Amino acid sequence: CNYLVEKSRGEVIDTLVEGIQRLEYRGYDSTGIAIDGDEPDSTLIYRHIGKVAALEQEIERQQPQREATFVSHCGIAHTRWATHGEPKNVNCHPQRSDAHNEFVIVHNGIITNFRALKQLLVNKGCHFESDTDTECIAKLFKHLYDTNVKNGVDLDFHELTVQVLQELDGSYGLLCRSIHYPNEVIATRKGSPLLVGVKSERKLKVDFVDVEFPDSDNDPQPEVPLNSVRGEHRNFLPIAANESALRRSQSRAFLSEDGAPNPVEFFVSSDAASVVKHTKKVLFLEDDDIAHIYDGELHIHRSRRKMGESATRSIQTLELELAQIMRGDYKHFMQKEIFEQHDSTFNTMRGRIDFENNSVMLGGLSAWLPVVRRARRLIMIACGTSYHSCLATRAIFEELSEIPVSVELASDFLDRKTPVFRDDVCVFVSQSGETADTMLALKYCLERGALTVGIVNSVGSSISRVTHCGVHINAGPEIGVASTKAYTSQYIALVMFALSLSDDRVSKIERRKEIIQGLKLIPEQIKKVLQMEPLIKKLCNTELKDQKSLLLLGRGYQFASALEGALKIKEISYMHSEGVLAGELKHGVLALVDEDLPIIAFATRDSLFPKVVSSIEQVTARKGRPIIICNENDEVWRAKCKNTNLVTLEVPLTVDCLQGLLNIVPLQLTAYWLAVNKNIDVDFPRNLAKSVTVE
Ligand code: G6P
Repeated sequence: CNYLVEKSRGEVIDTLVEGIQRLEYRGYDSTGIAIDGDEPDSTLIYRHIGKVAALEQEIERQQPQREATFVSHCGIAHTRWATHGEPKNVNCHPQRSDAHNEFVIVHNGIITNFRALKQLLVNKGCHFESDTDTECIAKLFKHLYDTNVKNGVDLDFHELTVQVLQELDGSYGLLCRSIHYPNEVIATRKGSPLLVGVKSERKLKVDFVDVEFPDSDNDPQPEVPLNSVRGEHRNFLPIAANESALRRSQSRAFLSEDGAPNPVEFFVSSDAASVVKHTKKVLFLEDDDIAHIYDGELHIHRSRRKMGESATRSIQTLELELAQIMRGDYKHFMQKEIFEQHDSTFNTMRGRIDFENNSVMLGGLSAWLPVVRRARRLIMIACGTSYHSCLATRAIFEELSEIPVSVELASDFLDRKTPVFRDDVCVFVSQSGETADTMLALKYCLERGALTVGIVNSVGSSISRVTHCGVHINAGPEIGVASTKAYTSQYIALVMFALSLSDDRVSKIERRKEIIQGLKLIPEQIKKVLQMEPLIKKLCNTELKDQKSLLLLGRGYQFASALEGALKIKEISYMHSEGVLAGELKHGVLALVDEDLPIIAFATRDSLFPKVVSSIEQVTARKGRPIIICNENDEVWRAKCKNTNLVTLEVPLTVDCLQGLLNIVPLQLTAYWLAVNKNIDVDFPRNLAKSVTVE
């Protein structure tokens, strides 16, 4: 959205296209943009299924006049991960209200009452062209706009938006532009992230925006009650005949320091990655915020007032470098991120562990530690890979904190309506900080009065803002859909959390020392494991080539490695793989074992080593030929290998509770090379998205 900054249409298109290219990892079924047409009140829409490159070709094919210039302009764009409606052209966003593109919308999230809304709008004569829930929003904007006009009501864009939002159930991060409000854009969120980047040539007068609350007591009551969509009549909401139900915007204008109009550009996005090229000054929107951008100003309104909520949104400076979100010399982001783990694990610990004095200091948690120590139970809640990092560290948490710990998949935790009490501490682990299931579980725990802790990678994300306290894992942006460096950094952050919980216990001094000194070596040890890549590449071309299925066996600390390894392989190589608890092998899975089924077994040294060896013997006794992940120069495996053709992958030895940090790396590489060998687009596995902001 630019104001007094001259741009050609070509530049507008390029900015939008590049912006969604950076977001492509979050969804890549289809893409689209909407920009100003040649007539003052016209909108051009370009959409295409597939990735952004296909959209670029489509735009080129339609040959818009790139030279036309605009002093002020608002364009919107979207890259989609389909929820409602398969990926086909009519289902791409932007969705529109009608053939004249009066209102166009891009939307992340799900409108849960869209069927009822659609029916209602169809009854009112609307013709739908897509299967999406989003189209309802565009049509609702137009319907309410037309009704207001008919009633002689002149509404601001944000006032109209309030009326629309009152009818929507579900989650959204949405942008709307309209030919009725030229050069204006609405950005509003509920459950889906949105931020506004501000690029200004001159210093801004303020570095915050006042929020405008509705003041229902003083507002004129609607004169024409038309009934609401909710309730018996299932019609539309009340609309005032003369005046809107909201006060006009009083928000502080976005003027330059001297009060003069300021040439300014706004970049609204669901992820800082698409904004950072233009500006590092961003403002994170909260749920129920309606940002209204026009005339170079940003106004934030609330659709409703909640007790005790903040009345300002401050502009923050991103600590994100463009280089961090570029692929550099690597073929894929996933490969880059696997190889970054030497640095990312180091960054997770940087400034937090004093290796001389064996102490840990987590700034975002320290004030809350006494409360955590008094907890009667600690519940870790997450999804996907983040869930596995919780499983991997549960035992060390229990050992060091002596508090019972349960680990929950967010969706199941909610499905079971798990009892949560005020003296529980709930830990939410999430790379993106936006995963809908985890976020909903967080709200559930907050409502029940538990202390909530976030272990998050994305700074400024919803989970990091809504939790009482927490730790940023500082792994740097993770773009590859299959999570790698976030896993190892979450793992370390959780171990550090457990260490800081036990720093008042004399009985734990030696154990803590051992772990802290173990952590010190981890980054270098990861570097060493990464040198195994050629060996793994070879395995993927021989033993594991063209296999249909793969079992991963692990026990104790290594059960999480088995689950996470299996998830990586499934996600990107599409090979069926299953992490199996070695102790459960004999209770069913053994039936699958024969000389053909590939098996990878985690058999590094810890107290369960003898039991793991016997599980592996059960496999070899049935002609299975497992690949063994073991410690360097382990005599047991060296001896066994002499007599058989067992393959081993040797990793350095570390403390038992940290061994999973090293053991997972060969599996990340295995998943990567299996996928590359199959020509799979590693960073964009089919049907998946990096950040799942829908339930
Ligand atoms: C998606 C991603 C996974 C990720 C999971 C949880 O399914 O594809 O890689 O582990 O969400 O995401 P979070 O951002 O909460 O860690």
